[in-house]
This record gives sequence, structure tokens and C-alpha cells, in this order.
Amino acid sequence: MTNAEKMEALRGEIERCRDCGLCETRTNIVLGEGNPDSPLMIVGEGPGATEDATGRPFVGRAGKLLDEALGELRMSRKHVFICNILKCRACVIDGRSVRNRPPLPAEVKACTKWLERQIEIVNPKVILSLGAPSARFIMERDFRMTKERGLFFPSKFAPAAIAGLHPAYILRKHGEEFEEAKGSLVHDIDSARKKVIELKKAGGEL
Ligand code: URA
Repeated sequence: MTNAEKMEALRGEIERCRDCGLCETRTNIVLGEGNPDSPLMIVGEGPGATEDATGRPFVGRAGKLLDEALGELRMSRKHVFICNILKCRACVIDGRSVRNRPPLPAEVKACTKWLERQIEIVNPKVILSLGAPSARFIMERDFRMTKERGLFFPSKFAPAAIAGLHPAYILRKHGEEFEEAKGSLVHDIDSARKKVIELKKAGGEL
């Protein structure tokens, strides 16, 4: 089976998952997308409203910013595999309004087996976490974004792991602060891309 076929088989399993309460409120599971053969995997937190509605990761405003950051490096989704820790949207339904909420620890615990299976399939050389929750899971420790973003750390999931600012966090900034935060995301994606090249060279693949 190709990695793409394995990923599609996994989609079927996740669609049947009822291991936490998020299955009750989801419209679609959000598996991930991009190139399942890529040496670079980008891991976010979880689907929001647009992702839940479409079944695709990072397709709302935060996703547009991520696409722009990739575009500044002449990259696109076909150069990476993008997914999340959570496959279903964590939300509060309050009458007619539906709001995102942070996932409960039990929901994260129930869901990470799917991300682990995706990492096994893609077998990336580098994982770029977007946001502290993703970094905490990938590095398996507390992670302080202000001090540790942009640096490489070992991970049991990949030869190298790095974390950058989450695009949704960047969108809350304005003016110069926004430009600076966006620049840091571009920089961290570029570092991850360069690390892939370095690791391939060291392994005799280039
Ligand atoms: N934020 C995430 O972390 N993931 C998405 O897919 C969308 C927004």
C-alpha cells in the first residue's frame, strides 16, 4: 500500500471513532492533507468551524495565513503533510451559537493515537508543531513558546522537532507585531525545510 492509501484507510477508522464525546458534535473528521510522503510534517491543534464544515485542515483564516507563509518560501501544501492533534472540533454549543473551546485532557488522550498512526505512515524527518499544545505532545514535555520556538529538539516521533507560533495567535496581533510574528512563522518553516535537507545529506539521500 502507498502512504496515501494507508492514510485513506486510516480515515475510515477515524470516521468510525467514538472514543470521546467530540464524535457527537462533529460534522466531519479532519484527517489532514498534503503529501503523505513528505519528510516534513506540520502539526496544529485541532479543527475549527471551517475545518469541521469542510473536513480539511487549516482552511479558515489561520489556514490562509499558513498558506501565505508557505508561499513566501515557494512552498505549498503539496510539499508538506498538515494535520492536527485532534481530529474533531472541540466546541461548546450554546443555543444557536457554537464556539471553539480548548480540548479536555481526556479528549486529547483519546485522539493522539490517530496522530501517532499518521506519524508512523509519513515517517517524517522533521515535525513542525504550531502552537504550544502541539509542541507539548511532540516533545513530550512542557514547552515555553516564548523561549523555545524556532529551536530544534529531539522527539521520539521524528529525528528533529521544532515549534513555531500558531497562525491563529499571529492573527490576533496588529501592525508591526503582526508582521514580526508572521515573519517568525516563515522563518521557522524555512528552518524546518533546511533541517530536512541537512538530515537527508547526512543520511546519504542527497
Ligand atoms: N487551527 C488548527 O490548529 N488546526 C486547524 O486545522 C485549523 C486551525
